[in-house]
Amino acid sequence: MDTLLSIRDLKKYFPTKYGTLHAVDGVSFDIKRGTTLGVVGESGCGKSTLGRVILHLLSRTDGSIHFEGEDISDVSPEKIHELRRNMQIIFQDPFSSIDPRMTVSQIIGEPLEIYNVCKNKAEYRDQVRSIMDTVGLDSRLESYYPHELDGGRRQRIGIGRALMLNPKFIVCDEPVSALDVSIQAQILNLMQDLQAERKLTYIFITHNLSVVKHISDEIVVMYLGVMVEKAKSKELFKKHFHPYTKALISAIPRIKKVDKHKRIILKGELSSPIDPPDACRFAPRCNHAEDICKHTQPALLEISEDHFVACHRARELSDI
Ligand SMILES: Nc1ncnc2c1ncn2[C@@H]1O[C@H](COP(=O)(O)OP(=O)(O)O)[C@@H](O)[C@H]1O
Ligand SMILES: [Mg+2]
Repeated sequence: MDTLLSIRDLKKYFPTKYGTLHAVDGVSFDIKRGTTLGVVGESGCGKSTLGRVILHLLSRTDGSIHFEGEDISDVSPEKIHELRRNMQIIFQDPFSSIDPRMTVSQIIGEPLEIYNVCKNKAEYRDQVRSIMDTVGLDSRLESYYPHELDGGRRQRIGIGRALMLNPKFIVCDEPVSALDVSIQAQILNLMQDLQAERKLTYIFITHNLSVVKHISDEIVVMYLGVMVEKAKSKELFKKHFHPYTKALISAIPRIKKVDKHKRIILKGELSSPIDPPDACRFAPRCNHAEDICKHTQPALLEISEDHFVACHRARELSDI
């Protein structure tokens, strides 16, 4: 399998009146074609910013982005326009930035107009209908407005629009977080089917680790702009080293009560991302923090094959 996307030491800082906000602070990973990388972490840890920087919806501060082997870190607006055909995004609320007077077919078909791909109206209509069918929207909904539809159908419109130009890569930014659990499963299944049919590559962003368990091949856990753990999905649920990952996994509700299972409650809030000190960013909330954690930021190291952890105490704590 070849690598579709590769990012190295990617950073996005926002200047604020209080100092420099390190939203994404040195993130590196590769994604193989046709696979899904889950990006997990609590609100404010930089997931959306990371997705947007990769898609050039936001400029980067530092680091590199390669897509299909090509360095796309610094590209012209024309090149970004061309890249966007292959690199799309699905949002949690697909309509926050869309004119509410547009109908379902206008929303789904807009990319065709922007890229001027259809020869005539009939071709345009056929392509829109075909995508509506692909994402499970009845053609009678064509002239509806999104506010007339339920959350699941609205998200199908968002997915249809993202698929319209037949992209290779999609950043899915909390696409099911606003949906009821039963609808979440339908949308996740649809996304998995589409991935298999179209060999799509996904970054799947969520604050809820259980959502990405089944859809992800690999998972990255982020905390305050940095990666704290990365592993294959199955491996991560079996074995997790970082105290933050342990807390996230312990918070997933279980059907059966397992004696050993104890929920780890995190104390305190996410610390400030403004001018963070050279320290482990999780240390203020970590039960296991020692002196070194407060003075040196831990590097992301390979603890076992393809399993990376950024924690000074990962090895000692692995049995706890
Ligand atoms: N345009 C912006 N200007 C200043 N700060 C921002 C901007 N966008 C995001 N941030 C900050 O960057 C951090 C990461 O935000 P975000 O990527 O939205 O996190 P997440 O998607 O994980 O909830 C937060 O502290 C947020 O307040
Ligand atoms: Mg977000």
